[in-house]
Amino acid sequence: MISVAGVTKRYGPIVAVDDASFEVNRGEVVGFLGPNGAGKTTTMRMLTGTLQPDEGTILFDGAPIADHLTEAKSRVGYLPEANPLYDDMLVCEFLEYVARLRGMEPGAARPAISDAVDETGLAEVFFRPIGEISKGYRQRTGMAGAILHQPEILVLDEPTEGLDPNQRVEIRKLVNSLGSERTVILSTHVMQEVEATCDRLLIISKGSIAADGTVAELMDAGRGISRYTVEAAGDGVAEALCGLPGVADHVVTAVNGRVRVSLEATGDGELRPEIFRMATERGWVLWELRRERATLEQVFRELTTDDSGAGGGGSAADDVAAGGDSAAGAPDGGAAGEVAE
Ligand SMILES: Nc1ncnc2c1ncn2[C@@H]1O[C@H](COP(=O)(O)OP(=O)(O)OP(=O)(O)O)[C@@H](O)[C@H]1O
Ligand SMILES: [Mg+2]
Repeated sequence: MISVAGVTKRYGPIVAVDDASFEVNRGEVVGFLGPNGAGKTTTMRMLTGTLQPDEGTILFDGAPIADHLTEAKSRVGYLPEANPLYDDMLVCEFLEYVARLRGMEPGAARPAISDAVDETGLAEVFFRPIGEISKGYRQRTGMAGAILHQPEILVLDEPTEGLDPNQRVEIRKLVNSLGSERTVILSTHVMQEVEATCDRLLIISKGSIAADGTVAELMDAGRGISRYTVEAAGDGVAEALCGLPGVADHVVTAVNGRVRVSLEATGDGELRPEIFRMATERGWVLWELRRERATLEQVFRELTTDDSGAGGGGSAADDVAAGGDSAAGAPDGGAAGEVAE
């Protein structure tokens, strides 16, 4: 349905989107996941026709949107980042205003507003000033505005940003229900969001598509990363473990006279036999030896962090609000990728 081919967008010397190509099928809910500055918003603005690519084409059903901009815009509903709304308008006034902007006649606007209010659960605050309603209701108001003209494609830029955990769950449910009859593209920093709402995800890093697939497919692709937790008492535990082949990252903490080492290793090899052999040879007392599968968070980190430090703008992991509950990974055979909420 949507086909993005070789799209590049520059802001002066900054390449915000760099030769991006991907497809979105009708009815899919696709998540854009990427650290700050990855190019998610820029890509979304091009999909909605508000920004033109410098290179490449965007097609809706085979037709370039640049050639049919008005029609393309009528097919898309857009919830911009930070959802700018007029605080002194009532919710009903805002929706009437959006209807007027869309060129809807009052006769058509009234039922459209009523349907949008029903679909987004806004009835309770319909006559309230936007400045007085909760952030969750503000998002619902923005979404009602986005679906008013009954677009078949919805583009939602960080719809759950800044919401408390309960509101996040509610907005995710709303996205799921809106997505049951529409094609939805949403962006997020939050891993659980894509796991909970998206059929497929695109990991965007520095303007490029770093990965494209279902959560399960990307987890499979991340099989080359594993995390080990070792707790042991003895001489030179931390040094020896951190020097094992393939260890890319480590965290060492001291617990009750023992050393607890978390290792992140790349490659398909299995380090546990080697760790066990070291422990017996060196006379360590081994309290724990555990291997965990790669989590989506680790796959994300692997794809979006740049160890050379060039242009990365900080660790992507810092930008990923894993909410604490997906950070630990799942033990072998466990349910990595399951939604905690
Ligand atoms: N109007 C602009 N003028 C100049 N540079 C811009 C502009 N908008 C975005 N950029 C730059 O383009 C790059 C991509 O930005 P974009 O906003 O698309 O990223 P993003 O993935 O949406 O980030 P975030 O997660 O912070 O919302 C960044 O380097 C950003 O600084
Ligand atoms: Mg953005």
